[in-house]
Amino acid sequence: MDKNINIEKNLAPIGIFDSGVGGLTVAREIMRQLPNESVVYFGDTARVPYGSKSQGTIIKYSRQIVRFLMTKKVKAIVIACNTASALALEELQKEFDLPIIGVIKPGAKTAIAGTVTRRIGVIATEGTVHSQIYTKVIHQYDPDAVVISKPCPLFVPLVEEGWLHDTVTDEVARRYLSEFDDKNIDSLILGCTHYPLLRNTIKKIMGSRVNLINPAYETALSLRELLCTHNLASPLQTIVDSHMHQFYVSDTPEKFMAFGNSIDLPFYIEKVEQINIESF
Ligand code: DGL
Repeated sequence: MDKNINIEKNLAPIGIFDSGVGGLTVAREIMRQLPNESVVYFGDTARVPYGSKSQGTIIKYSRQIVRFLMTKKVKAIVIACNTASALALEELQKEFDLPIIGVIKPGAKTAIAGTVTRRIGVIATEGTVHSQIYTKVIHQYDPDAVVISKPCPLFVPLVEEGWLHDTVTDEVARRYLSEFDDKNIDSLILGCTHYPLLRNTIKKIMGSRVNLINPAYETALSLRELLCTHNLASPLQTIVDSHMHQFYVSDTPEKFMAFGNSIDLPFYIEKVEQINIESF
């Protein structure tokens, strides 16, 4: 075993949080790509949605969640929520002394790496779109890239309702995505935790010439890099099984558990605990 490893620190879990269930799409990718890491996931199911709330509120909520995750001795934190990544990441990085990453930069980087037309679409919550964070980060990599953003607020409740393959969802998606007609984009960032679950619907409408980008994939790669840089990765021989992952929510657990166990996570969620997040 590497003598630089501090077992207690390296075996500590990764904290992941989101406004609700959607961030499980990011947790899923992290579990797949970093199978020897355990996670503590918090879903703020009592206060979802974040997408329509002010920056001050999102920072306050995110700060409470980081405090809670720190009581679980996490070694790093991934903000799975695009809205919280857009509005609170910078503030949290200043306030807390542990590595914290969001999903925006990884998503933007993937889009830039893949685009040929240098015309990129972004769909996200109102909060994320109004922050213009994707445009700003994409322009750091390519100042001449054209970014066209569209908020799709109805996608979140449709996914929460489980209407992933439904004519109503098709119709709503068609209306939102008509924004991109004749815009010649070749990449579309799914800039909200819930949208990767509508991938098939969105693909059907956008066609095969538009590459759909799920920031979760690149976020897991960035997390691996971050853990290596800080010498925090679990030893490769670590075996993680389902009871080592922990799930917490701020509202009743039943719906969260049912949703989580319907999206093809590498593990079955056996237990979800409700906590009082306002006390942190
Ligand atoms: N998790 C949020 C995001 O990725 C979507 C749901 C919400 O509005 O809270 O932006």
